[in-house]
Amino acid sequence: MDSYLIEFNVMGDERGSLVALEANKNIPFDIKRVFYIYGTTNDVPRGQHANKFSKQVLLCISGSCKVLVDNGNEKQTIIVDQPNKGLYIGNMIWREMFDFSDDCIIMILTSEYYDKTEYFNDYDEFLKVVCP
Ligand code: TYD
Repeated sequence: MDSYLIEFNVMGDERGSLVALEANKNIPFDIKRVFYIYGTTNDVPRGQHANKFSKQVLLCISGSCKVLVDNGNEKQTIIVDQPNKGLYIGNMIWREMFDFSDDCIIMILTSEYYDKTEYFNDYDEFLKVVCP
C-alpha cells in the first residue's frame, strides 16, 4: 500500500511546540498546493476519491479523524490524531476521511495544482483501472 504515517520532529520548548514541513525533506514531494478542511460533521464522510497523479500528506493540526486508504486490493484505516504525524497517500489510492472530532482541522499538502480531471470520483471506475 503506497500510504504510510510520517512522524515529524517537534521543536518544543517552554513556549510551546513547532513543526516544520519542508518539500523533499520530511514531505516526500514538491509541495504545489496546501488546503485545509474544518467545520466537518462527524457522520458526513469526505474524500471518497482517488487522484491519478497527486501525492498528498494529510495531517490533523487540531483534533482527529480516521482515513480509509484503499489501493483496490487492500484497505487500511488509519487514525490521524497528532499535529506531528502526517499520513502520506500516494496517487491512485482511494481515500475516505470520517469520524471527525469536533475540533478537527485537516491540512493537506499536495504535489499538484488542483485539477478536477485527475480525480476518480466513482469507486467502480477506479477499481476497473487498478484491478483490470
Ligand atoms: P472536495 O474535493 O469535494 O473535497 P474533499 O474531497 O476533500 O471532501 O472539494 C470541495 C470543493 O472544493 C469542490 O467544489 C472542489 C473545490 N476544491 C478546489 O477548488 N481546490 C482544491 O484544491 C480542492 C481540494 C477542492
